[in-house]
Amino acid sequence: MIDLIKSTADDVYPDVVDLRRTLHRHPELSGVEHETARRVADRLEDLGLDVRTGIHETGVLATLNGSKSGPTLLLRGDMDALPIEEETGLDFASENEGVMHACGHDVHTSSLLGAAMILARHREAVHGQVRFCFQPHEERLPGGARFMIEEGVLDATDGSSGVEAVLGQHVKPGLPAGSIGVRPGDFMASSDEVYVTVHGEGGHSAKPHELSADATYVASQILSALQSIISRQCPPDVPSILTIGRLIADGAANVIPSTARLEGTFRAMDEDWRFRAHDLIERVATHTAEAHGATAEVDVKVGYPALRNDETVTSIVKDAALDYVGPDRTVDADYWFAGEDFAYFLQERPGTFYQLGAGTDRGLHTPEFAVDEEALRTGAGFMAYLAWRYGADQK
Ligand code: NI
Repeated sequence: MIDLIKSTADDVYPDVVDLRRTLHRHPELSGVEHETARRVADRLEDLGLDVRTGIHETGVLATLNGSKSGPTLLLRGDMDALPIEEETGLDFASENEGVMHACGHDVHTSSLLGAAMILARHREAVHGQVRFCFQPHEERLPGGARFMIEEGVLDATDGSSGVEAVLGQHVKPGLPAGSIGVRPGDFMASSDEVYVTVHGEGGHSAKPHELSADATYVASQILSALQSIISRQCPPDVPSILTIGRLIADGAANVIPSTARLEGTFRAMDEDWRFRAHDLIERVATHTAEAHGATAEVDVKVGYPALRNDETVTSIVKDAALDYVGPDRTVDADYWFAGEDFAYFLQERPGTFYQLGAGTDRGLHTPEFAVDEEALRTGAGFMAYLAWRYGADQK
């Protein structure tokens, strides 16, 4: 079966590349993926799949029932682009000003469609049900994943007892095209935004002793003190990062401003620690401010959860990668401190989010990001193989 899937992946490859270039040329921002969804749905209908559109507005779910009995599996690809002006110089570069597929979601979408093309040709060999989930709105909070789940993409239907496992992939710069990166357990970080506003008393720079508090000085103390949360409170086996990337104290050389503001990101691989840290951030900021006669307002904007891969499903994916791309191209992935709303799917069902080698060193979310299109051959073929193999193993 592996050879049959590989040769079918080669057959559909030109079509997948073509679709990817079309999507790349017409990127759409989070929540308005109307054209993308229409293109995807049209192609899925041509394959004779059962297609449901309009899930959380632009989400699409296609269902393929294999001829053999088996479990129900959900494969997910995200569809949205970013507010970035493309600078790749590709002949199929974005025609939508200021919008770009700089996170490879065009690759995820076309690979998932490619997997559907491959499996639709071998329906007689497919065990169980495969759901192809095209998700909108990944790049912006609150994300599209949780709404697609609320709208029932994992639920039981006539002929299916509901989704047993979920799989998704993301292109990874720094990995050669054709390779797959896997990691069991904790994989991607939760991602929350931290805002602290310090209120002091503004006045002449020469008279700090006559003011109740110097907000700039207090903000700098809070900035330092916040790092003690990571170094003194975080368990040593939980990777966690707190970065203050913005400090605004808009006085002058001779003016003490009345307020100062800190903005940053907090990321963690563990949900218990994550919410404990939110309380500590609040405590350290407000009490440090109080110690210096100021007050601090703390606002933590809760983002996507930490993403944890199921150990069993991940070992199935790794075994499948060893057979499909070979040991040289199967990589043990490191922690990845990006946020990803596939985490919501993994809170509901066991599964794995794995990396697809992008064949470029240009970073995600940069204007120069351009994948090696060989990635699409593996992106579609390996996902199809994985779905077939999971069904055959679990039947
Ligand atoms: Ni992404």
